[in-house]
Amino acid sequence: MSIKVNNKVFTLQTENSTYQMKVTEHGHLLHLYYGSKIADEDISYIIPQVMRSHESNPPEVGEDRIYSLAAYPQEFSTNDVGDYRIPSIELINHDGSYSFVGKYASHRIYDGKYSLSSLPTIYANEDDCAQTLEIILEDDVTHVSVKLLYGVFPKKDIITRAVILCNRSGKEIRLRRLMSMNLDLMTSDLDMIEFYGHHYYERQTNRHPLTHGINEIGSFRGVSSHFHNPFAIICDRKTDEDTGNAYGFCFMYSGNFVFDAEVDGYGQTRIAMGIHPKQFDFHVSDGECFEAPEVLLCHSASGLSALSHRYHDIFRNNACRSKFVNSKRPVLINSWEPFRFTFNTDTLLRTAEISKKLGADMFVLDDGWFGKRDNDRAGLGDWVVNGEKIIGGIPALSEKIHAMGMSFGLWFEPEMVNEDSDLYRAHPDWCLRVPGRAPSRSRHQLCLDLSRPDVCDHIIDAVNAVLDAGGVDYVKWDYNRYVCDVYSSYYPADRQGEVYHRYILGLYRILDGIVKTHPDILFEGCSGGGGRYDGAIMTYFPQTWCSDNTDAPSRLVIQYGTSFAYPISTMGSHVSVCPNKKTKRTVPFKTRALTAMHGTFGYELDPAKMTDEEMSECAEYTALYKEYQPLIFGGDYYRLSSPYDDELFTAWEFVSKDKSSALVFVVMQEISIMDKNCYVHLRGLKDDSFYRIEQTEQILSGAVLKNAGILLPHTKPQYSSYVFKLSEVR
Ligand code: DGJ
Repeated sequence: MSIKVNNKVFTLQTENSTYQMKVTEHGHLLHLYYGSKIADEDISYIIPQVMRSHESNPPEVGEDRIYSLAAYPQEFSTNDVGDYRIPSIELINHDGSYSFVGKYASHRIYDGKYSLSSLPTIYANEDDCAQTLEIILEDDVTHVSVKLLYGVFPKKDIITRAVILCNRSGKEIRLRRLMSMNLDLMTSDLDMIEFYGHHYYERQTNRHPLTHGINEIGSFRGVSSHFHNPFAIICDRKTDEDTGNAYGFCFMYSGNFVFDAEVDGYGQTRIAMGIHPKQFDFHVSDGECFEAPEVLLCHSASGLSALSHRYHDIFRNNACRSKFVNSKRPVLINSWEPFRFTFNTDTLLRTAEISKKLGADMFVLDDGWFGKRDNDRAGLGDWVVNGEKIIGGIPALSEKIHAMGMSFGLWFEPEMVNEDSDLYRAHPDWCLRVPGRAPSRSRHQLCLDLSRPDVCDHIIDAVNAVLDAGGVDYVKWDYNRYVCDVYSSYYPADRQGEVYHRYILGLYRILDGIVKTHPDILFEGCSGGGGRYDGAIMTYFPQTWCSDNTDAPSRLVIQYGTSFAYPISTMGSHVSVCPNKKTKRTVPFKTRALTAMHGTFGYELDPAKMTDEEMSECAEYTALYKEYQPLIFGGDYYRLSSPYDDELFTAWEFVSKDKSSALVFVVMQEISIMDKNCYVHLRGLKDDSFYRIEQTEQILSGAVLKNAGILLPHTKPQYSSYVFKLSEVR
């Protein structure tokens, strides 16, 4: 049993962590502990019983001046009743008041993992032995309640949280904020690690100490976004890859989000994560409920690597039900970088034919195959093949590619429309736009209004019509602008605060109607590179294009940041030409290839322009990737060095779960005039076992490889690279 209740003390146990909360004599649910494993004894002594001058005390505590919601750690923080830190909830009751105070009403424990009816969640497999705890907190005055949901995955060291608000007040209420989780820690000597960026520069790692006040990241771009990823870590100041406490918070939602870490005047830290409250105003009628998305919590007492391993394992095994998640993925070649919008059937067939010789398994036709799509000003929304470019249509093209022994993939951007499209001309009211204002364009396109059921139905039908015609083995699902002009002609004026969230609910409905009804198609997410890289999208797409930046040194940094939460098997990563189109940098082919092996490998280049030497290099690295893919996808991943550190190289490693084999990748970062010795220290191996390094033919023990390391060759030109394959000698 991973959930225990004793005298209203709730203790959640995983193999390595414990989470505890307690209902007080006045019915408030206090948070007591989240950290390394302890027994289930009541540890409420950790809350100091001191009078906090000038703080308010709830009416039911009478003369007691110690009991204050402003200082006590809360499990779900109240609003307008004397806790001045970030609230978990903000609503407008039917009488116009903003108050909410949830008191313990009941609880329920059951085997298995809860799910949400409107939002994607992690699921439990039988061998997870997962359990669910539901605690209902009710406001005695308004009869609005919240159900706090906890999913405990004991073997995976993950605790999921979500909240469902139910209105039984007899009247409609307006919900202005509902956080999915609140975690009050009794200390503030902590660092925050978050992942920021922009297009071409996703998930840059930023570690900084928490400061007094609110330390916040978030998005109100309508999508999780390139700018801040909906994942953050709070850790001890000294936590590193192998030691120290770290807490992870991963939001299972693809829209607006906020992550706050508030350090109060008493040196305590409140962490909250949920839908961003900006422009959020949801009407909940009497008898209705509202679901707040799930957050995946993880605590590691052994540093950041263990934290990442736990997230990787849960995403690899409990997020996406696609049969492709744990199967071999095709090496693909994509038409976008070489051809953009300018191609014809012959170009495509010729490219596929040459790619086959490189060992590619799949040809992907990117943007430009439909409507009047000769540039990015027209055609989006018209999912009908352009017969001048693709003679005979998609099934005919696909048949020819299949005949070459390759599979075939196709690009879509279903959520968008160009004004120059048949769809827009027929339904100008189907996009987000504010009455009386010209809408803002981005990449010459507008956002379809996914809060409208009729728009969602149309998208499902239009995309399914292409897929059901046959021949498509893979879909790249793109999304190339942020949402603004957030107004839907479908809803009345006072419901416009619901549109951001309804858009995301519409998106998930569309994905259910397309992705889940095509189990034999491999789907890859994309958003102008990696602008929608989040846990929720992973429940639909086994892989997501990591960034439009395919320059290897830039990718090292992007892939490093992405690896903290998301498994390597989810990262779309391809080799492109040099000089790189974005950075103009020239990097050896080998390094581009080894860097692209940090994910689902492929090519973004015109093979017809390659020299014979490049062709044979391509074939060699494609074959190598295919050999390595099972270990890259299934092994434990170690960041051996940080691309941000003043190191001469960036290195990473995959170790099989049974520790019998490993792969080590190294890319030299800097030209150094100093003749410095470079050793790569491995991790995760068995100290006492011996390993044979295929490339150097050395046999060394795990302890030696960890402590002395692999010596790199003495000449190390900038951007040169190495791969080492290790196998245990038995
Ligand atoms: C943005 C994607 O990230 C690219 O890979 C490509 O698919 C283009 N969109 C096509 O418009």
